[in-house]
Amino acid sequence: MSIKNIRLEVMQFLEKNVDSFVDDYLIPVEKIWQPTDFLPNSEEDSFFEEVKELREIAKELPYDFWIVLVGDTITEEALPTYESWLMDVEGVDNVERNGWSKWVRHWTGEENRHGDLLNKYLYLSGRVNMREVEMTSQHLINDGFDIGTGRDPYKNFIYTSFQELATYISHNRVSQLAKSYGDKKLSKMCKMIAGDEMRHHNAYSEFVNQIFKVDASEMMLAFST
Ligand SMILES: [Fe+2]
Ligand SMILES: [Fe+2]
Repeated sequence: MSIKNIRLEVMQFLEKNVDSFVDDYLIPVEKIWQPTDFLPNSEEDSFFEEVKELREIAKELPYDFWIVLVGDTITEEALPTYESWLMDVEGVDNVERNGWSKWVRHWTGEENRHGDLLNKYLYLSGRVNMREVEMTSQHLINDGFDIGTGRDPYKNFIYTSFQELATYISHNRVSQLAKSYGDKKLSKMCKMIAGDEMRHHNAYSEFVNQIFKVDASEMMLAFST
């Protein structure tokens, strides 16, 4: 049996547990936070007051801070790239709508809220050139990306387990910085996003863990490259 076929078999074996992965590591739509929960409510008359306050507090945040926040936002906004890449991984089949494609769709649904929240915040803050940010996001999506893992599910899950941890660290540190500059609301937004990233990191780490249990030597080889 080829390495590719064994990987496919392992993915099919783990696919039976996808529903429990979704239950354990993701949160149902009705229960999870939405960007609107942390932004001025545009249905209320108090909207303009809230935006004014948001903009006043945003004036306290330094130039370097905005660079990191814009970087985080653009990274989140390139989500279409990540979804199409994951949908193409060996063992994930969106045409058949198999278990793994369900995972990818539900994970994408959670992730989509991150760019949405940060983008709206940046827009309201009045501190950044949104047109440039939007153009950069569009360029990033146009370019696509190649992380060198091909369609290999082992390598891809190792990558995502680290990627989610990296985004956790970044959003969490931005949250701490925002707090130190007195912006409690922005700090909360970034903290909520960081919480999602940690759950996702735990999920992908669990996939890596489960693959190690059934195909240790190949997973170790994938890990080492
Ligand atoms: Fe994210
Ligand atoms: Fe993420």
